[in-house]
Amino acid sequence: MCRIVGYIGYNQATPILLNGLGRLEYRGYDSAGVAVFGDKGIVKARSEGKLVNLKKKTESTDVSGTVGIGHTRWATHGEPNETNCHPHSSMNGKFVVVHNGIIENYDVIKKQLLKNGVKFLSETDTEVVPQLLEYYYDGDVLEAIRKVTNELTGSYALGILCADCPDIIFAARKSSPLIVAKGENENFIASDISAILDYTKTYTTLNDGDIVELKKDSVKLFDKDLNEKEINFTVTDLDLSAVMKNGYEHFMLKEINEQPEKVKGLFDSYVSDGKVDIPELEKLSDCLENCEKIYAVACGSAYHTSIAGKYVIEQFSRIGVETDIASEFRYRSPILNEKTPVIIISQSGETADSIAALRMAKEHSAPVIGIVNVVGSTIYRESDCVLYTKAGPEIAVATTKGYATQLMMFYLIALYLAQKKGTLTAQEIAQYCAELETIPEKAERLVKNTAQIEKYSDRYKSSKNFFFIGRNTDYAAAMEASLKVKEISYISSDAYASGELKHGTIALIDKGTPVISFCANKRLFDKAWSNAEEVVARGAEVICVVSQKDEEKIKEGYGKIVLEDICDEFSTMLEVIAMQIFAYYIAKGNGCDIDKPKNLAKSVTVE
Ligand code: AGP
Repeated sequence: MCRIVGYIGYNQATPILLNGLGRLEYRGYDSAGVAVFGDKGIVKARSEGKLVNLKKKTESTDVSGTVGIGHTRWATHGEPNETNCHPHSSMNGKFVVVHNGIIENYDVIKKQLLKNGVKFLSETDTEVVPQLLEYYYDGDVLEAIRKVTNELTGSYALGILCADCPDIIFAARKSSPLIVAKGENENFIASDISAILDYTKTYTTLNDGDIVELKKDSVKLFDKDLNEKEINFTVTDLDLSAVMKNGYEHFMLKEINEQPEKVKGLFDSYVSDGKVDIPELEKLSDCLENCEKIYAVACGSAYHTSIAGKYVIEQFSRIGVETDIASEFRYRSPILNEKTPVIIISQSGETADSIAALRMAKEHSAPVIGIVNVVGSTIYRESDCVLYTKAGPEIAVATTKGYATQLMMFYLIALYLAQKKGTLTAQEIAQYCAELETIPEKAERLVKNTAQIEKYSDRYKSSKNFFFIGRNTDYAAAMEASLKVKEISYISSDAYASGELKHGTIALIDKGTPVISFCANKRLFDKAWSNAEEVVARGAEVICVVSQKDEEKIKEGYGKIVLEDICDEFSTMLEVIAMQIFAYYIAKGNGCDIDKPKNLAKSVTVE
């Protein structure tokens, strides 16, 4: 998705903008550009493709100056070519703008401006912003921004330069992330703090409707009606190493390896003496204890954690859980009211469909619990209760530690609810906590000893299609495993509930088709095993993901990935970590761009 950086200070802006855009590169983009205020006014350099192309452009264009804005674009309206690339200018060059989001009413505005003789150059929705600014401008930039933002519908984070104000960057935000950060005699705007950690850790997150006037030594914040607001800066505890590879070949591998420590961190935060205490949920405790149903809504992998969570919450607490893909939830008519808590799960906290689902839930008075990894993100700020997953910045597009920490959070919620409702005894809760406590050390051994998994990645890396099958919590693992393989190695794959395969899909199984059968749930081993045999009978090559306890049951000739024993309810965690490793080595073996898979963006901030 599009990302923004802006700099104003005493140093040259271009290297800082390029560095900042580089730190955000992992989020996915297809063109990039900068605009810098220099002696000759505002000069732009833009190019298709990766930042290295833009860097070359900046070497042959005079983009010197100490005030500038930069952008990486993930095309939505118009091809990813140089003309559509940001920054965009108004017809007479008075305004230059970078934008993240979608201007939903751009067509109406554009038609109106065309009637008034305004000439457009690009196919983008964004271009209406500088054009409309110039149209309304009568010497007061803030007033023009107020008028324009009042007229826009959709989402925007905007960085704005005005040719009449060489020492100011303006910014505005609605529904797309934007922060303002403060340094020594220099200030920044950025889509997120990781872009500028090289320079400062002091920042504030803008709220919807906020408008900013940024000079090198001052920051002024206004609401949508231009009333000045107080600014509360905070200091992030992230350091640069959190957004660097630290010796790992890929961010994904680094993040896979961070999982034991991250899930342990969450466990330690909420469990002591065999009891689970989640103070963040206390204000909803009456509602949670008395509700009959909880909705869990998310996209992609976050949705998959909700499926694993559903099995465990229902089993432990006897509260029904309805899981929904956010983009579907928002367009159906779920029965929502003050008695139906809604859990929104999102690593980034900025996924457009998940935000829309959250807002819909709130409109119907449903209490919202956000499971989120980014402090200050939209879902973090708009949820009634926030469960912060503390995984640290996740750079690889394919989520790993984000998933593991969300899953751990679901396990903790399930135990918390069971404790509140008395559906498990104190002794049972303590036993489950003891099991949970073993996850970090088991996960640590798993991520450090990958040979048994790499062997299969190597053997099957040229396969055209994988099937992942499992039942119950193993099915949740199958869904996430399938997505991991698809997104980073571009190999087609399907996840099926094992028992469902024979209702049609088994027709696709041919000689040599690799089928990964999840059997770590010991209670369902025999069932899972018969489904594995069914596909072998049709020529499939099966790899069973099995716990040590059942390892001996796997017949000669079947592949196997053996996991340390863990109770059935939590087996998804180790299964998925094993499959992250499996997918990683397939992608590596195929020379794929593991951290930045094609067509994907880290956080999907458009519908
Ligand atoms: C998973 O590897 C993907 N990156 C994707 O499915 C992701 O989980 C989804 O887009 C949701 O993102 P979020 O957790 O930031 O809301």
